Amino acid sequence: MNPVPSPPPLDVEACALAPVAAKAAPSAIVIFGATGDLTHRKIVPALYQLAKQGRLPEETAVFGYARRPKSDLEFRAGLRAALEQVAHVRPVHAEAWEKLAARIWYVQGDLDDPAGYARLRERLASVPGAALLEDRALYYLATAPSFFGVVADHLATAGLAPGNQGGASRRLIVEKPFGEDLASAQELNRALHRAFPEETLFRIDHYLGKETVQNLLYFRFGNSIYEPLWNRRYVDHVQITVAERLGVETRGDYYDATGAARDMLQNHMFQLLSLVAMEPPASLDAHAIHDEKVKVLRSIPTPSSEEILAASVRAQYGAGTIGGRAILPYRREPRVQPSSRTETFVAWKLEVDNWRWSGVPFYLRTGKALARQVTEINIVFRPPPSVLFAAVCGAKLGRNGLRIRIQPNEGIHLQFNAKTPGLPAIQRADLHFRYGEEFARYLPEAYERLLLDALAGDSTLFTRRDEVEEAWRLVDALRAAWKNESRADLPLYEPGSMGPEESDALLARDGREWQPVHYD
Ligand code: BG6
Repeated sequence: MNPVPSPPPLDVEACALAPVAAKAAPSAIVIFGATGDLTHRKIVPALYQLAKQGRLPEETAVFGYARRPKSDLEFRAGLRAALEQVAHVRPVHAEAWEKLAARIWYVQGDLDDPAGYARLRERLASVPGAALLEDRALYYLATAPSFFGVVADHLATAGLAPGNQGGASRRLIVEKPFGEDLASAQELNRALHRAFPEETLFRIDHYLGKETVQNLLYFRFGNSIYEPLWNRRYVDHVQITVAERLGVETRGDYYDATGAARDMLQNHMFQLLSLVAMEPPASLDAHAIHDEKVKVLRSIPTPSSEEILAASVRAQYGAGTIGGRAILPYRREPRVQPSSRTETFVAWKLEVDNWRWSGVPFYLRTGKALARQVTEINIVFRPPPSVLFAAVCGAKLGRNGLRIRIQPNEGIHLQFNAKTPGLPAIQRADLHFRYGEEFARYLPEAYERLLLDALAGDSTLFTRRDEVEEAWRLVDALRAAWKNESRADLPLYEPGSMGPEESDALLARDGREWQPVHYD
């Protein structure tokens, strides 16, 4: 039997940019909402992985802050039990865990109780090695968004916020959802800025932490052969699909108040769109990248309600089965209103009206309870002139396409036409690049990278205030158009399909179709 290769050091051919871990200084990490799902499923597993790989500074001290009374030992035991349930972490390496656990503490407090923050302050200063942390703190708000401003204000009152003097590096990570519309996002920004200047705020969009999403920049601007084609002269249209196989599961109450447009489109999908459409940044500096991303969103004019209704589709899943598993219709899912009009699927055709993309439609779709769990970007190129093959083969002559598979089975596939061997015929062929085959390296989870970057103060992979607000401008317009729509009910789609017929019709009206979702 061949031994399992351990992850190799950086490949000889690789050109390393700024090594993030080296910049991350030891810091206190304070998790508010420390007994919640996010802490158990994402934050602590990421800290554990980083610690195990030696990427977390050893002096890092982790503090859980939550309401229930608990000892440090009970808190650690709960985290350990939860860690065992996380698939990509199992089995937990006892020594690595113990080493991290010895630097995890618990502080009991209400989010709105000054006494809790006083206890936190005291604890931060008294744990072994506290002096080494030198007031460096990363506060992680894994709480309901209604508490974001509250916690920030209490931290300021307790003297734990960055203050106006600079110097100390105290940073705040906020989870999504960041507001529920433009007005509430602006309000939230104002509330957070009272105590935390923009450069100390890290708004999570976990899609930006995915390796394949980061690769969009490297792929586009680290090569010379794609960029000349990456514009309206050569690209016919762009498709972005984020399909999920699961329904709303246990999150009925959150989801029913949110819907697909706010849950996925406003954040993850607009981030993907920005990275695909942006101009080359002046440098790899966070500001330069954010500037280019926000320009893309600003180049999408707010469409009128009529335009939106003609260019968008929303729908809900009905009853059915996926892979033999019975799926309840959305309206009968636990904690969903029986008369809910919340969309579980959305498709939207958008125009990025700038010099590069004018006239090139971007078709976005996302939904729950669909046929496949897949996130993919398809760049579909214009057809070749029809003088030779196209004249005879017509629609059978496939378009060139670049299929960027974000997840799972991460990879990039180039579609082209080739001669069928032995016959005077032409047919579609593919060039495949698969992460799993090309790199014998561990693909880090998004939260690992994001935590490390926040510790290092690098905000490139977080969303900036103006990006979030521009995305809300568009989603607000979409939702306002839907709200005023006279239709009685939303279309239903069958679980296990790729959405309602209306979604196919949206592209068919333009003489196009959704690219088939492959199983690779
Ligand atoms: C979250 C949404 O932001 O992203 C969820 O709230 C969704 O509804 C999830 O399931 C998808 O993330 P991923 O990484 O599994 O594609």
